[in-house]
Amino acid sequence: MIALTHNIGDTSNLRGWLETHVRNNLRPDVSNYAKGRLRVWLDDEPSLTADVRISQGLRIPAGIRLRLRDLIKWDFDYALVTYSGDSEAIGIKPHRDARFADYEAVGLNVNGTCRFDYWAGRLGFGKSPTETEYDPRYDAPTDSLNLVPGDVVKFNCKNLHSATPSKKRWNINFWRKAPKVRL
Ligand SMILES: [Fe+2]
Repeated sequence: MIALTHNIGDTSNLRGWLETHVRNNLRPDVSNYAKGRLRVWLDDEPSLTADVRISQGLRIPAGIRLRLRDLIKWDFDYALVTYSGDSEAIGIKPHRDARFADYEAVGLNVNGTCRFDYWAGRLGFGKSPTETEYDPRYDAPTDSLNLVPGDVVKFNCKNLHSATPSKKRWNINFWRKAPKVRL
C-alpha cells in the first residue's frame, strides 16, 4: 500500500537547515541502486547488510528530531537525507529496503519534485500473507506518484519502489527498526 498522507506546507525553513547543516556532510551513496546519489544518515546509520550494524551518522539536536517527527506525524528510528544533485539528478532504481527496516516507511519530499514508482506486491503496510511478484523490467508500476515540495508519502518499503527526482531535490526517508533486529 502507498498513500500520500499530507503536505507539511512551507518547506523553506527545513530546506534552509539542510543547506546550512547537512549539505557539507553529504556523501555518495554506497547502494548499487543509487550510485552517486548524495546522502547522509541523521544520528544512527544502519548497515544495509543482513547482519545489521549501527554506526554514527550526522548528529542532530534532539529538538530537530522531534520537529521532524511532528512534521511527518510518525515516530521513527532512522532518517536518511538524500540530495539528487546540482547538475545531474540521481535517483534510485527499483529495490526493496534492507533488513534494518520495518515494513512501513515514510518519505518527505522537501524540495524539488520526484516521480515515485511503486509495485504493490504486498497489499498493506505490513507483512502480507499473499504476495504478487512484479518484475519492474516488464511490469508497469501499480502506483506512480508525482511528489511536490512538502509531500509526505507512506509506503510498504519491502515492496519494489524507485525514485526519479528533479535536480536539487532534497528528500528525507524515515524507518522504524525491524522487530527482528536485536541491537
Ligand atoms: Fe527504498
